[in-house]
Amino acid sequence: MNLRRAVFPVAGFGTRFLPASKAIPKELIPLVDKPAVQYVVEEAVAAGIDTAIFVTAEGKSALEDHFDRSLRLEAFLEARGKVALLEEMRRLGSLVEVVTVRQKEALGLGHAVLQGARAVGDEAFAVLLGDDVIIGHPPAIGRLAQLHAATGAPVVAVMEVSREEIRHYGCVAGEPVEEGVWRVHDLVEKPHPDEAPSNLAVIGRYIITPQVVQELKDTPFDRGGEIQLTEGLRRAAQRAPLYACTFPGERFDAGNKLDFLRATVTLGLRHPELGEGLRRHLEELLA
Ligand code: G1P
Repeated sequence: MNLRRAVFPVAGFGTRFLPASKAIPKELIPLVDKPAVQYVVEEAVAAGIDTAIFVTAEGKSALEDHFDRSLRLEAFLEARGKVALLEEMRRLGSLVEVVTVRQKEALGLGHAVLQGARAVGDEAFAVLLGDDVIIGHPPAIGRLAQLHAATGAPVVAVMEVSREEIRHYGCVAGEPVEEGVWRVHDLVEKPHPDEAPSNLAVIGRYIITPQVVQELKDTPFDRGGEIQLTEGLRRAAQRAPLYACTFPGERFDAGNKLDFLRATVTLGLRHPELGEGLRRHLEELLA
């Protein structure tokens, strides 16, 4: 069965991005001229997802507005003859069906996914984290969906990082089964580099099955009072196959200020109208 629903956990405060994220949901901070979350939603839509389940919290309602139609804005653009913008706004307003679910307390990523799962029912779904912006075609989540379709198993996206960086990620231990695919035996959340079982870092793309949801429901809170998605996946991997795979595209950590700047410059240089001007400015600055 094709995957149709995707959960987007967007309830976090975005503390890594303060003060920018104080009054604006961090997911709406733009990379060039599009909010970061729009890139992520467009990736899911390109892979055949038709319903986006946003797991939100107070102060995040602008996210729903962004993907809704604004008849007032459309009428305004129409009256001014701004046809291209009007088309763009209509496309955005009908890009995806939006469902919102509230995460009432900040109890971790695993808890957020459990809230989203309630809006899915008894079928597999995708999870996409907004901080991980992946640019490229075919869509990264589509690669995970393919592997899920072939195996029926849950899937996580991974990427090789340096030993030093692994402390920021979930880390996968597994055996390679084909080029870019591993059968996962164990997962550890943010290990110390000396104790990490590999340099394969989990990037924020997942296919979650009902079995993983069941494991998450049984996963206790950790010492920080959170339910970790990594822990639910670890428990699931101990009982049944779970796969990790690499993905196509270029990944940016939009929650990290330096990586956010790299993404802005990279995408700015590729922008059909802005690229040339930005290139000239950078050349002048660096000359
Ligand atoms: C979360 C997950 C972690 C994963 C990361 C990917 O961590 O807990 O396993 O590697 O996303 O971006 P966070 O970045 O929210 O701390």
